[in-house]
Amino acid sequence: MRALLLAFTLVAGLACFHGRESQAQIQAQTQTQTPSLTVTDRGTSRTISRRELLADPRLQSVTVSYDPVYRRAMTYRAIAVSEFLKGTRIGDDDYVQARTDDNFSVSIPADLLVNAARSSAQAFLAVEDPSVPWPAIPGTTKGSAGPFYIVWRGGTRAEISSEYWAYHLAALTITDSPFKRWPGLAVAADVPATDPIRRGLDRFVAVCMACHRFNGEGEGEQGPDLARPMNPVDYFQPAALRKYLRNPSSVRAWPEQKMPAFDEANLSDANIDAIIAWLAYKARQRR
Ligand code: HEC
Repeated sequence: MRALLLAFTLVAGLACFHGRESQAQIQAQTQTQTPSLTVTDRGTSRTISRRELLADPRLQSVTVSYDPVYRRAMTYRAIAVSEFLKGTRIGDDDYVQARTDDNFSVSIPADLLVNAARSSAQAFLAVEDPSVPWPAIPGTTKGSAGPFYIVWRGGTRAEISSEYWAYHLAALTITDSPFKRWPGLAVAADVPATDPIRRGLDRFVAVCMACHRFNGEGEGEQGPDLARPMNPVDYFQPAALRKYLRNPSSVRAWPEQKMPAFDEANLSDANIDAIIAWLAYKARQRR
């Protein structure tokens, strides 16, 4: 039965590969199977089904005053991520990589996810109960944010990048810091601590690497590598690049365009300039 369902999913997926509905249809079919979440801690994985999570006594009702995916207040059945990841070995500098079922992946500093002491932010793993489904994500064909979704209470919007609200969550993996894993991104020691280039790297890792690699480093799969073969600072007019990062469709637009626009609260003008400064710094290093 499972094999049949899978075959059907593949055929249906291929048949409408170019259609705009394909993602939504595949999504809907995936959701009729038993959804589960995989947690990997240094090579050891465990998979937890939605049914198990919905029976977890640590589930509580969590209200977030502004959910950037639904663009309004929302209430969820959720488990504090600090509780959920209890028992895993998380070092102070580690990151947790959140991967979605469409290969979007974002690295979140582990201490932000599990250690409420660092900031006022608290992360929760929200679980969608199929008998009380969540609404569809507005303005998309992606269905709801479920079955698993990382939501945040407290914290500033600058601190909790909108990419950290990982919906359609499929896996959490505890890893070394991206700065350790991808040393090619680094800024040399002679760059002063206050130089925007450093903040640019930090924001690039937090916001852009969910989809983009840089010179082969990273795990993003949705967008192009931003250093190979060319770095965008080498072919974009500076003003157009700034405009593109604020809102790609203000530079060029087409139906299948995937790169999101960022509003000022998620990515300030100063941070856009900092990211461009870091891109330009890396381009200079290669010359
Ligand atoms: C959700 C995924 C996603 C995120 C996050 C994202 N991008 Fe993109 N980006 C894409 C995709 C996909 C494309 C290819 C065009 C498209 O489909 O929109 C793209 C295209 C681009 C391009 C244009 C490349 C070209 O030659 O046309 C640049 C430059 C770029 N992204 C930079 C960035 C930067 C810098 C960030 C972080 C501020 C970022 N992107 C965040 C997905 C993303």
